[in-house]
Formats: sequence, structure tokens, C-alpha cells
Amino acid sequence: MSYFASKSVLLLSMNNTFSSIITKWYADNKRDLPWREATDPYLIWISEVILQQTRVAQGYDYFMRFVRRFPDIQSLAEASEDEVMTMWQGLGYYSRARNLHAAAQSMQGVFPTTYQEVRALKGVGDYTAAAICSFAYDLPYSVVDGNVYRVLARYWGIDTPIDSTEGKKLFAALANEMLDRQHPAVYNQAIMDFGALQCTPQSPDCCRCPLAESCSAYRKGCVAQLPVKQHKTKTVERFFNYIYVRAGANNNQNYTFLRKRTGNDIWKNLFELPLIETDTAMSEQEFRDLPQLKQLFTESELATLRLLHSNIKHQLTHRTLYANFYEVTLPEDATPPDGCIKVAVDELERYAVPRLIQMFFHLSKKLL
Ligand code: ADE
Repeated sequence: MSYFASKSVLLLSMNNTFSSIITKWYADNKRDLPWREATDPYLIWISEVILQQTRVAQGYDYFMRFVRRFPDIQSLAEASEDEVMTMWQGLGYYSRARNLHAAAQSMQGVFPTTYQEVRALKGVGDYTAAAICSFAYDLPYSVVDGNVYRVLARYWGIDTPIDSTEGKKLFAALANEMLDRQHPAVYNQAIMDFGALQCTPQSPDCCRCPLAESCSAYRKGCVAQLPVKQHKTKTVERFFNYIYVRAGANNNQNYTFLRKRTGNDIWKNLFELPLIETDTAMSEQEFRDLPQLKQLFTESELATLRLLHSNIKHQLTHRTLYANFYEVTLPEDATPPDGCIKVAVDELERYAVPRLIQMFFHLSKKLL
């Protein structure tokens, strides 16, 4: 018998209380967000994919810009991948943009209407499929995101790790039991907002929580310990040495070199400066001695090499990048090495680049 089946009568009555309190809280506290009023599954899909790994505050502007430029499936399907990437620039997790584009092209102008079809779209997992189907079609699928894990783990006092197979099953079943089947869209939005605003990861305001009286973690004093995760995510360090090429100094038609990142790595299909990645941090002298550098530039070109910025720390979710930026000055008619393209500096904004490179351009505006 499942964990819940044995408690099903109790759960059934508590479910009503739980979902009605959450829904009432939502009516009083809901955030006005542009995708909330939408029933167009396309708009909901875009918002949910943006919000998969992005906070609402940051995702808001991206959503507005994205749907202004691509208001429907067709406009997204017909755009070039480079343009879609440009609209995504700075948001991170760029596979989301590539998947959106590929999925739009697979739809033939019509958004799928069943859970199974929605779940089969590229880049759509259980959470996103449930969110789209409940918000757009009011279908009874419960969402389970980080907010929902937290609210359920605390309210029911469950310490099964949320990233274990057992935990995933348990929480999916519990979320399903708690779902208000008459109003799946409102209930799902409500529990997510409740987690985001009231039952927050750090220092939740339990004294003003409408669920406190029946919250197991609150009563046992273990709110801060829940939910439990079994794996701490490891952070990898990487060392990037970028070379900003200044081709055609001292006039207003400057060029530089960019290269597109390919391969299964961070920032796939984004542009960046010519890069030499090393296993460890490089001093300027060690960098000057690298054979890879000598493959990119001749000795006389390297005579112009200078260090612009060193040891810039850039944090990604599972990686810490340390970047050095060098400059090499070449004649205006210099040809780029294999794999690089030559770009007029005034046209740099046409290329989707990672935030780190965007920050470098910003920092160096006067230099470029
Ligand atoms: N996070 C993910 N989806 C969301 C939504 N629809 N509203 C608010 N926050 C969210």
C-alpha cells in the first residue's frame, strides 16, 4: 500500500483545507504577471520555458521582448536560430532557446492540445507539460517545481530527499492528491506563488502563514531543514583566456574576431572571442608561452599582446569561470584564424554572446 493510500481518508479532508487555504491566500497575494492572464498555450509555453531556470524578476523583460518579436508559433519557427539566440542573450541555459525554436518548427503552426503531445515537445519535461496543460487548458495535472517541493515537504514534514527516485515519486503522488481538480490552473499557480513568496527557502515568515497551524515542520520546529536534498551539486572551475582582436586601430572602422561555440558544452551556438581554455589559472607569462597562442598569431602579432582584465570571476549554476582578457592589435585587413569570423565592431550587437562577453564589451566600450 502506498504511503498515501493508507492515509487517504485523512488526506482527502486535509486536501480540501490545504488547497482552499492556498487558493484563498493566492486571491489576496497573487502577483500580476503578463502570462497569467494568457490562455494562449504558445505564450504560456514561452513563459514557462523562460521561468524554468530564471527568476520572475529577470524573466519578465525577456518574456515581453521575446513575445513581441515572436508573437506566435509561426514567427518563431520562421526565425533564424541566431536571431532566437540573440533574443535569449544573457538568460543562460541556451539549450532552452534552441529547443523552443526546434519545437516551434515541429508544430506546423498548431500548438498540441494533449498532455502527451505537449510532453513530447523538445525541452518540455513533466513540470512544464503540467504547467502548460493546466494553465492553458485547465487540465488536471499537478505541477511539481522547487516551490512545490518545499511547500509539500514542510507542510507534511517529509524528509525523503527530493532528488531521490523515491522522493520524486512520493512528491509527485502527493502533489497529485493535493491538486484541486475543479480548478487546476488557479491551484497550481497558487501553490507556486505560495512557495515563492510565503514559504520561502530562507527565513519564511511562519508567524503570518495561514497554514502554520497545521504545518508539520512548523510544529516540529524543522522548517529550515526541509526539503532535504541528497546530492550537493558540485561546482567545476574553468579557466578561460580570451583574446580581443583589434583589427584596424585608430579609425572608426574597427573589426574584431568572433567564433561560434559548437560542441556539447556551455553556451553552445553563442559567439565569443577567440579562446584558449586552460586547466589551471595562467599568469600572463605562462599564457604568452602557450603553444596554442602561437598557432593563432604570428610572433610579430604577439608583440602587441597585452592583458586587459585578469581573473574575472563569473558564476554559472554548476561552474565557476575565471576569465582573463587579452588584446592583440592587427592590421585592418587581417584575416581571422580557422573557425573565427571577422566582424565590424559597430555590428557586434547582432551576435548573441554570453553575459561574460557582453560585460567585457560593456566594460571596454571606450577601448573598442
Ligand atoms: N515559475 C514558473 N512558472 C511560473 C508562473 N507561471 N508564475 C510564477 N512563477 C513561475
